[in-house]
Amino acid sequence: METRAVYPGSFDPVTNGHIDLIQRSSALFDQVIVAILRNTDKTPLFTVEEREEMLKKAVCNMKNVSVTSFAGLLVDSVEQLGASVIVRGIRAVSDYEYELQMALMNRRLSNRVETVFMLPAESYSFLSSKLVKEIAQLGGSINGFVPPHVEERLRSKFRK
Ligand code: PNS
Repeated sequence: METRAVYPGSFDPVTNGHIDLIQRSSALFDQVIVAILRNTDKTPLFTVEEREEMLKKAVCNMKNVSVTSFAGLLVDSVEQLGASVIVRGIRAVSDYEYELQMALMNRRLSNRVETVFMLPAESYSFLSSKLVKEIAQLGGSINGFVPPHVEERLRSKFRK
């Protein structure tokens, strides 16, 4: 039976750390669906459509990876997408507490869905969308942190 995994997140914007994790998951699971959260308390820099476009371009060479967006409870979307696994990245111990809480709560909400924690390459362990946005806004170099097309989108956002 095919194993389908969902990799959820804000992806505002996608970083090379996210892409590394998508690549690793695509080697483990038959299908990987990257799912962008629609409803959030955070005010995103990019619209869902912009984030989806950037993600699609970043994964266009990965045959078993698709990109979508979701609203409401993650476990509901995971089941609707016919998936049984949630993939989350752990960069450092500091991520673990929040991720553990979320994984246990999701398991309580649906026992048909398992969370799998994955580690990105060590070289991305300090990388986050939040820091990348801050550096770009302050005029620093984000080369190597995001794909070139995302770098360009960040630059033009902050030029305005
Ligand atoms: O990239 P992020 O912002 O850390 O991703 C967080 C995300 C999208 C995985 C989380 O906020 C989420 O799953 N939201 C959907 C609402 C939900 O299901 N909440 C209960 C989680 S226990």
